[in-house]
Amino acid sequence: MAETLKTISTRCSTRSYKPEPVPRDIIDKITEAGTKAASGMNRQSAIILVVDDPEVRNELSRINAAVMNSDKDPFYGAPTVAVVLADKSVPTYIYDGTLVMANMMLAAEELGVGSCWIHRAKEEFESEYGKNLLKKLGIEGDYAGIGNLILGWPEGEKPVPKEHKADYVYHI
Ligand SMILES: Cc1cc2nc3c(=O)[nH]c(=O)nc-3n(C[C@H](O)[C@H](O)[C@H](O)COP(=O)(O)O)c2cc1C
Repeated sequence: MAETLKTISTRCSTRSYKPEPVPRDIIDKITEAGTKAASGMNRQSAIILVVDDPEVRNELSRINAAVMNSDKDPFYGAPTVAVVLADKSVPTYIYDGTLVMANMMLAAEELGVGSCWIHRAKEEFESEYGKNLLKKLGIEGDYAGIGNLILGWPEGEKPVPKEHKADYVYHI
């Protein structure tokens, strides 16, 4: 099978991680794949925040968990979180950001890095903490959180990719 198709079919979400962070050069390959995503009218409305500072990672985790009234780590112990945000003034911002997430998930799979999309990035960056974080980075504009891509070395057996539903595709 061609390499891309193989990567697509073996990808699955990882929810158990080793604490050691993935080296920067590998993370860079993953984010690079994100930056290559197509975007509406090539507006490239998305940005990626790579968070591996434990203090920031843990605060985002806390805000995320609070949305669900949980005190568990929604990032499943993953040492790195690549948060995708996108500029709300661009009509295709949600689609643009989602495609960045998908490209990064596939790149992670190909490089043997575990990943999982974690929801509620929107709420993280609607919080004062999230807004200040962007401000400190000098990021201006109206950015919405699209998704958190947690990244790390998988712990234990690789999960089995999910079967897709029978009535997924229709031919006309
Ligand atoms: C938009 C979106 C939001 C998701 N949010 C979460 C989440 O908050 N927590 C989680 O554990 N998994 C989350 N996932 C992962 C899905 O549960 C997972 O992709 C799905 O069960 C299919 O499994 P697979 O990724 O192994 O194919 C999310 C996935 C998507 C696409």
